[in-house]
Amino acid sequence: MTPLYDNHGRPLTYLRLAVTDRCNLRCFYCMPEEGIRYLPKKDLLTFEEIERLITLLASLGVSKIRLTGGEPFVRHDLMDLMQRITEIPGIKDLHLTTNGVLTAPHVGALKKMGIASVNLSLDTLDRERFRVITRRDEFEPVMNTLNLLLEHDIAVKINAVVMEGKNIDDIVPLIELTRNQRVEVRFIEEMPFNGEGNHYPTLHWTYTRILDYIKSHYPNLVKLPDPQHSTAYTYSIPGHLGNLGIIAAFSRTFCGTCNRLRITAQGTLKTCLYDDGALDLRALLRADHSDDYIKQQLHTAFQHRAKDGFEAEQRRKNHLPVSESMSTIGG
Ligand code: GTP
Ligand code: 5AD
Ligand code: SF4
Repeated sequence: MTPLYDNHGRPLTYLRLAVTDRCNLRCFYCMPEEGIRYLPKKDLLTFEEIERLITLLASLGVSKIRLTGGEPFVRHDLMDLMQRITEIPGIKDLHLTTNGVLTAPHVGALKKMGIASVNLSLDTLDRERFRVITRRDEFEPVMNTLNLLLEHDIAVKINAVVMEGKNIDDIVPLIELTRNQRVEVRFIEEMPFNGEGNHYPTLHWTYTRILDYIKSHYPNLVKLPDPQHSTAYTYSIPGHLGNLGIIAAFSRTFCGTCNRLRITAQGTLKTCLYDDGALDLRALLRADHSDDYIKQQLHTAFQHRAKDGFEAEQRRKNHLPVSESMSTIGG
């Protein structure tokens, strides 16, 4: 069958799949202290269903997979699923976004299976600020994960959401990690996905403000060419081994070249982070439809894709801003 393109001529080659909506942290920008209403287990896609979906998406041209959550390692046997995914014909690279709490024991196996990269959520290098931001005291296991990933020479991107009054003093220490280590540190504009149904907060730290702040500490910052489809504007500092990036996630500057499709933990296809869900893949899988029928449905879903996040939001049934938890959406 022909590769998957949307109605704006953009190829869909990068699948972000959430394996669970559960998480063992409570980052305040993602979910409330009491957590979110988690899905019952029977509502989650099974590993067999995930494998089938990825196999049929691979036959439509998807070659990059990122597993997200919630926290992916909350799902038992995640490593088995990952191993199976690496064996699917057409899948060129498998990536993982994790908070690192449960990752350390698996780093050797990740290296062995040839994981392409790990994006590690880490907003601060200070144990107390970590506890305040994540509402959990798990700083040590996360740092252990980071060190092990670097020791094993696995490509690592650190994701740090920039928050007024919370971690501004961490920007320079996080950048300092790039001095002697091959790590990319990415600073992210905070998005209004905290699971509390709040309307848009004021964005204090925009992409340009973050950039100005960094330049004031590192005047010799050099702009790098951005990889195709990159969410981040990338930079380097002369003499540093690693790089840094800024993700204008709230400003959504990267929509024009978006090659991403998302599948939530309950098997809903999202053609944009900001849409209501375009297709119930779980229902299709459980109704015994043929692969060809499901592929056809995927093609059709992408013929109605919004041009960008702003349009997707306009089209939402109630026209309200998205207020789900990032943990449910899968990032
Ligand atoms: P790479 O494959 O390394 O480029 O990763 P990524 O940046 O696509 O993924 P990651 O899971 O590390 O997410 C980093 C940040 O970018 C998170 O805050 C995501 O929510 C945000 N992000 C990723 N894709 C999109 C998108 O399509 N729209 C918006 N607005 N934000 C996104
Ligand atoms: N705004 C911006 N980024 C967020 N993430 C989670 N919640 C938010 C938010 N409200 C990021 C985390 C994680 C990635 C998948 O999404 O840093 O690394
Ligand atoms: Fe968990 Fe990630 Fe949400 Fe933090 S941002 S609560 S680590 S899903």
